[in-house]
Amino acid sequence: MTPLKWWQTAVFYQIYPRSFADGNGDGIGDFKGIIEKLDYLKDLGVDALWLSPHYPSPNWDCGYDISDYCNVAPEYGTLDDFKTFLAESHKRGIRVILDLVLNHTSDEHPWFLESKSSRDNPKADWYVWLDSPLPAGEGTGVRVPPNNWQSCFDGDAWTYVPERGQYYYHYFMKQQPDLNWRNPEVKQAMWNVVRFWLDLGVDGFRLDAIGTIYEDPNLTPHNVPMNLAQLRRASELAHTPAEKKQIEKYWYDMFKHQWGGPGLHDLMKELRAILDEYDGDRMLVGEDDNIDYMGNGDDELHLVFNFPLMRTERITPDHIRRNQKERLSRLEALPIKGWACNTLGNHDTSRLFTRYGDRQHDSSLARLHAALVLTLKGTPFLYNGEEIGMTDLIITDPSKLRDTMAIWYYHSLVNDLGVDPAEAALRAGEMSRDKNRTPMQWNNAPNGGFSPPGVQTWLPVNPNYKEGINVRDQLHNPNSLLNYYKHLLRVRRNTPALMEGEYVPLHPRAKDYFAFLRQTSAQTVLVILNFSSRKLELSFSRTAALKDKSLRLLFSSAIHSRTDLSPKALSLGAFEVLIAEAK
Ligand code: GLC
Repeated sequence: MTPLKWWQTAVFYQIYPRSFADGNGDGIGDFKGIIEKLDYLKDLGVDALWLSPHYPSPNWDCGYDISDYCNVAPEYGTLDDFKTFLAESHKRGIRVILDLVLNHTSDEHPWFLESKSSRDNPKADWYVWLDSPLPAGEGTGVRVPPNNWQSCFDGDAWTYVPERGQYYYHYFMKQQPDLNWRNPEVKQAMWNVVRFWLDLGVDGFRLDAIGTIYEDPNLTPHNVPMNLAQLRRASELAHTPAEKKQIEKYWYDMFKHQWGGPGLHDLMKELRAILDEYDGDRMLVGEDDNIDYMGNGDDELHLVFNFPLMRTERITPDHIRRNQKERLSRLEALPIKGWACNTLGNHDTSRLFTRYGDRQHDSSLARLHAALVLTLKGTPFLYNGEEIGMTDLIITDPSKLRDTMAIWYYHSLVNDLGVDPAEAALRAGEMSRDKNRTPMQWNNAPNGGFSPPGVQTWLPVNPNYKEGINVRDQLHNPNSLLNYYKHLLRVRRNTPALMEGEYVPLHPRAKDYFAFLRQTSAQTVLVILNFSSRKLELSFSRTAALKDKSLRLLFSSAIHSRTDLSPKALSLGAFEVLIAEAK
C-alpha cells in the first residue's frame, strides 16, 4: 500500500479567528491569541488547522468579503504575526490551511472599486456586469434587473451601479460581488494570491463556495413563486412532510441556475497544477460535497466534505450506513481512488452538541458523534469549541446580531412580511450563524477567559462557561468531554487501522447501534456505537474477521472490568462507544 499523505491521516481543527482567542484584549480574536493556544492544540492532539479568513475585510460577512488577499486583517495582527503563527504551528508539527474565497471579493476591494468606476476601465470586465434586459424601462424611470435570481443572503442577486448604468451579480450579499472567472486576468490575479501564500509555506486551502463560481451562461430565470425572504419564512412554517418536501424543492429550484455552471473542472485542474509545483503535498479541500470535483481522483481537489452525513435532523445508524455506502462507493469508483472527509459542524451550522442533541442525553450523544467522526474512514474536521461541548447561543436582541444575513432577514420579516417583531427577532436569532460563532470558552472567569474582564466581546460569550463548559475546568476533570476527545485522538493516532483501514459495515439492519470494522492487512479494529439508551448484548461470532479471535479493548466511553473481550458476547451500556482490536 502506498503510504498515506499527511492530509489523509491528519485530524483537522477549524479555527474561527474572530472567536478563538483574544490576545490583545480588544474583544476580538487575533494571531497573538492563537499562538498562545498552540500548545493547547498540540496537547489536544490535532494535526492541522483550517483557518477561516484572516484577511482585511469590511466584515459584512465576517471575513468572507475580502478587500486584500495578501494581507492580514489589522484586528488580527500583521503579516509578521501570521508568519510567526505559521512557524510556531509548523514547529509543533501542526500544518495550516487557509480559507480561499474565489467566487467573490468585497465590494471595497480595489479591483471592484476600479471595475465599478466606468464601463471601460482596465478592470471593467473583472466582475459580472449586465445591462437591464428591458430597454422599455428606459425613459420610464423603471429599472429592471437582468433576471429574477436571488442572492442566498439578502434578496436580489443584482445590484445597480449608476456610474456604469449596469447591474453586478452577487450570489451572496451585495457587498460580495462575484468575480468574472471567464476573464483570464482574474485567474492570473487570483493564482498570484495562491502563490503568495504557498510561498510563505501554508499547507493548502479550504476553497470557499466553489460551486458558485460559474453560473448558467443563459441566465435562465428560476420558477419559484416567491422571493428569498418569503421562501425562508415558508420554510419555517412548513410542518408536514409534504410541505417540507415542497420547500426543499423550491430551495433547489431557486438556486439551481446559479450553481455548477460549466468550467469549474478546468479551473480546479489549473489550481491543482499550481499546488503540485510545490513540495510538501500541499492540499485542497472544497466546500462542496460533489465528488466530481475530485476529477480523476488526483487532478482536481484532494478532498470534498461529506456534508450529506450532517444533512439530517438526527444521526441514526441507518443514515450513517446509507451515507457511507453511497460516498465510499463513489470515491472508490474514481480512476484513482478518492479519500473521504467527514465533519459534523463548522462556522455555518448549528453546533453539533445542540443540533444532534435530544435535550435528554446531549452529553452522551456528543460523545457518540465525536467518536463517529474520528473512527469513520476519511479525514475528520473538527470545529473549535466542539471538544468542550459548546452549544448554540440564540441572540434574541436584533441589535446584537452580527451576521448580516440574519439582520437582513429580521428586517424583511418585520417590514415586508408583517411578522411580529418579537417573533421576527427569535427567527432571526435562530437562523443566524452568530449562534455557533460565539467566543471560545477558555476558563470560568468573566468573558469565559476569551477576553479580559470588562471587555465587550464582538459577540456575547455563552454564559454556560460558568457551568463547566470551558477548557480549564475540563482539563482538570478526567471525565470531561475534552479529555474524552484527547483520549480518542490519541487512540486514533496509535491505531493504524483507524486511519488507514477499509470500512466494513457489520449488522446492517441494526437500528440501535452502528457497528463496523476498520481493517488493514495487519490490523482489524471493531467499532461499536450504541445510539440507544438500552443496554446491548451483541455477538459477532458470524463475522469472519473476528471468528476465533479475542478482542483487546482500545477505548470505551464506559468502564469495563476487563480489557480482553469476546466477540461472541459483548455487553455495551447505554450510548456506549467501544473500540477494540481483534487479536
Ligand atoms: C461559505 C462560507 C460562509 C460564507 C459564504 C460566502 O459558505 O462558509 O461562511 O458566508 O461562503 O463566502
